[in-house]
Amino acid sequence: MDLGARLKGRHVLVTGASSGLGEHFARLCARHGARVSVGARRREKLDLLVAELREAGALEARAYALDVTDEASIKSCFNDLAAPLDTLVNNAGVALASSALDTPLADFDSVIATNLRGVWAMSTQAAARWRDEGREGAIVNIASILSARVSGGVAPYAVSKAAVKQATHALALEWARYGVRVNALAPGYIETEINAEFFASPPGQAMIKRIPMRRLGRPEDLDAAFLLLAGDAAPWMTGAFVPVDGGHLVSGL
Ligand SMILES: NC(=O)c1ccc[n+]([C@@H]2O[C@H](COP(=O)([O-])OP(=O)(O)OC[C@H]3O[C@@H](n4cnc5c(N)ncnc54)[C@H](OP(=O)(O)O)[C@@H]3O)[C@@H](O)[C@H]2O)c1
Repeated sequence: MDLGARLKGRHVLVTGASSGLGEHFARLCARHGARVSVGARRREKLDLLVAELREAGALEARAYALDVTDEASIKSCFNDLAAPLDTLVNNAGVALASSALDTPLADFDSVIATNLRGVWAMSTQAAARWRDEGREGAIVNIASILSARVSGGVAPYAVSKAAVKQATHALALEWARYGVRVNALAPGYIETEINAEFFASPPGQAMIKRIPMRRLGRPEDLDAAFLLLAGDAAPWMTGAFVPVDGGHLVSGL
């Protein structure tokens, strides 16, 4: 089956597309003939991406200033969307490296507000519209291997991503009746802006040695799983948590 072809003509909104994995997913969708909308706070970076996608022949590419922690911003993004949505990719996320005892509550709140509340708020907006319009839809939550296991110094992030996994299951159950599928893609460690500094450090280098496949992921390692969840190739697949991690989640204890 050609997974990429199953994305052709679909309208996909990718949050957090101003860098890293979100930017990669937006390019991937455009390359496979999807209509792409991208949202993030750094509008200028999105405008550059959209210009690049259009130049490369994207069917449609549009940028939206979006802060997933702000309900008004989310509503205005959905109201402004040029066409009905088919797929929402909840990719926006923040990581914060500090031990639990050194983490001010405000920092904990900001990680939860983006990574969990943001996913909830975006998903409920999308699903309510799909239900009211009688349209099917797909949600892809970008979770993490830290949804399922823990690592030191990133507790708020791990807590938020574990909750995203459970939200994926809970929302899949509630929305299956409306034809809305909700799945989670759980990347292992992939080098982007969010973690480049860490992987250059001695603890980061040690962690790479603990990945059974002995290397960091590359964004394109996620492509096949992403296309499966974002398109319509797997219409009976919902509530799934799909790790793509070089075997990190099955590393020996
Ligand atoms: N890289 C990895 O190894 C890895 C592994 C597992 C999971 N993930 C997950 O993958 C996703 C992307 O991460 P990344 O590695 O690509 O990091 P990144 O390069 O730092 O990208 C994060 C994106 O989230 C956006 N964002 C942050 N707060 C936002 C807000 N309030 N509203 C809207 N957008 C917001 C940022 O855009 P603005 O600043 O412009 O708003 C940025 O585009 C995250 O959910 C992350 O947890 C990454």
